[in-house]
Amino acid sequence: MENKYEIVKALLKEQLLSSAIKPGERLPSIRAASELWSCSKNTAIRAYQELEKEHLIYSVPKSGYYAVLRSPQGKEQGEEWIDFSSASPAADVMPYKDFQHCLNRAIELYEDHLFSYSDPQGFFTLRRALEGHLAKSQVFAAPSQICVVSGAQQALHLLASMPFPNGKSAVLVEQPTFSGMLRSLDLMGVTVLGIERTMDGIDLDELERHFRNNHIKFFYTVPRFHNPLGASYTTEQKKRIAKLAKQYDVYILEDDYLADMETDGKADPIYSYDDAGKAIYVKSFSKIMLPGLRLATVVLPASLMETFRLFKASSDSSTAALSQAALELYLNCGMYDHHASLVRERYTMRMQKLAECAERLLPPPFHLRTGRGGIFSRLVLPQEISLHDLITALHSQKVRVVSTEHNYLRTFPRENGLRLSIIQTDPAKVEKGIGMIADTLSELQSSQTRGRHNIMNWI
Ligand SMILES: Cc1ncc(COP(=O)(O)O)c(C=O)c1O
Repeated sequence: MENKYEIVKALLKEQLLSSAIKPGERLPSIRAASELWSCSKNTAIRAYQELEKEHLIYSVPKSGYYAVLRSPQGKEQGEEWIDFSSASPAADVMPYKDFQHCLNRAIELYEDHLFSYSDPQGFFTLRRALEGHLAKSQVFAAPSQICVVSGAQQALHLLASMPFPNGKSAVLVEQPTFSGMLRSLDLMGVTVLGIERTMDGIDLDELERHFRNNHIKFFYTVPRFHNPLGASYTTEQKKRIAKLAKQYDVYILEDDYLADMETDGKADPIYSYDDAGKAIYVKSFSKIMLPGLRLATVVLPASLMETFRLFKASSDSSTAALSQAALELYLNCGMYDHHASLVRERYTMRMQKLAECAERLLPPPFHLRTGRGGIFSRLVLPQEISLHDLITALHSQKVRVVSTEHNYLRTFPRENGLRLSIIQTDPAKVEKGIGMIADTLSELQSSQTRGRHNIMNWI
């Protein structure tokens, strides 16, 4: 290390990583730091700025520098895990500093909103900003059709619980599907039917039979970068779904939680093919903004808006004013689009790395099925492989993976598989992690073969 600031930075970094300086603790002032390490104030400032760039510390105007609050979320601190299980954005991808500015500005600019209850549908000014934002994904909707919600999960829950004008009560879901939706439906005691979704889509004739015969209120679908499959519908499939919805008076609940990860300019949502007011479009901001802000938007046909507003207001009065204000600022100043493109680039690169490593490293017959982007992919395993043994063996090597069993209805035949997410794994971790999964699978396979031989000998 040639520069003094690098030495100061390294000393501080060590203290931060070892928690000698605790999360949230104020760091020495610039003057104290320059005295402590016998350096100039400029050197101390440079060291702090470099640590800030690494998101290890943050500054509060007129107050000083603080250690970033990192929630270990059950992870053993200081240990280097390879996490293929998480769906929450990684701290190193999030522009923590930008959010901080937005939130600070939001408090100043939207002070009035903080002192009162606001429209359950969301700030009008934010809905106007969302009108422009959604139009970029071919979702054309006036502010009167747009509602701001406290996360996509809230929209799914409210829609599952409220009555629909078609007077029907059952919900149809893809199998597998997002576990948060299954949990909501289960807790509410809603009648749920499943239709198999594969990397190629669904059987559209079967969908038609469900729509025709089964009193379906809405069909919940994740058309783009499906959770947990990673698959996307083709344009033809989306058009056909919209057409069937119109024909059989069934609503489509389109969960476009990864719309911002799209790299194909022609991949439009089902909403854009709906000319009958049957599509409900939900977009989460958790994967681009911070999930803790609890922000999503839903675009509703006129026939549903009044009831939805009523249910939303009775659920939480309105979405937190501070979060709404931060999103509005973030959208209007262009930071959202800028950040979304960086995240898209990073995740796309990781997905390509994942596909390449899986192809190269996984022993036959194991095969990772990847979509054309997004954050998830699925490793389907033969029934003889015990998921429990695999997950436990990987956990002992500090690799986190998650089974897809929670993505299925209890009554639906389920495939033995893992969902792999790249959201917390940089390319180096992807390579290392897939290598470890490959080795563990080979070991499990050969111990099974040995077990079978022993049984044969015994017989
Ligand atoms: C498909 C899908 N929909 C909705 C959500 C929930 O989003 P939010 O954080 O906005 O509630 C998730 C979260 O991972 C998801 O995977």
